[in-house]
Amino acid sequence: VQSPAVGVGPSYRPEGEKPTATVSREVQQENVHVLPQTPQLIALLTMIRDKNTQRADFIFYSNRIIRLLVEEGLNHLPVVTHTVTSPVGKDYVGVRFEGKICGVSIMRAGESMEEGLRECCRSVRIGKILIQRNEETSKPKLFYDKLPPDIKDRWVLLLDPMLATGGSAIMAVEVLKSKGVPEDRILFLNLIASPEGIENFAKKVPKVRVITAFVDQGLDAHNYIVPGLGDFGDRFYTL
Ligand code: PRP
Ligand code: URA
Repeated sequence: VQSPAVGVGPSYRPEGEKPTATVSREVQQENVHVLPQTPQLIALLTMIRDKNTQRADFIFYSNRIIRLLVEEGLNHLPVVTHTVTSPVGKDYVGVRFEGKICGVSIMRAGESMEEGLRECCRSVRIGKILIQRNEETSKPKLFYDKLPPDIKDRWVLLLDPMLATGGSAIMAVEVLKSKGVPEDRILFLNLIASPEGIENFAKKVPKVRVITAFVDQGLDAHNYIVPGLGDFGDRFYTL
């Protein structure tokens, strides 16, 4: 199934004058939240999908999308009413976040999302899980984890830009669950997902909330996301 191509552009432009662009597929799973397909997001994704985009730009534009994901992810954390008094002596009834959080990156590509999380949550604790996909079989292998000792009492923002078969992210959630983190206190922040990955993930760990920028068309014979952006880790760190 093709992803839908729709008119993208400011709402004051008549429909017929908007350029056509491919937007994310819609998903049925209740716990999957796709970022609004704004002209800005589509333009940023267009930059990082382009094979001619060089590393410096790839990092810059990926970071901008990561920031949008983190800001949206934070909307899913609990808040309590919090009233403050302004400098003119009047009260404002607002909210503040309740509860402790931490980030957990799936190494290597997930580490690229740590800075965006830190920009919004200063001095946030960050755990690491090293999972690598076998290049031939696409099966994930767990090599290492190092997590905050009180992680079971925290909300966890799990970070990985790519959800292909879903194997790596599911394995990471299993690690978190083995440390006592309940599924419904995990938010998975992701740039591009495949429909197959979303389905597998939602089937195996249905209570984990997924915040993604885009659900793509599918997977190729090597389990790379199509059209995707290639190997995120290579493009961000080494190419
Ligand atoms: C990539 C990506 C995910 C995983 C997605 O990592 O960052 O972790 O593949 O694929 P899956 O959904 O089929 O498991 P990779 O293992 O290639 O390592 P890297 O982060 O070092 O690039
Ligand atoms: N990992 C990536 O970096 N890209 C893909 O398309 C699939 C897995």
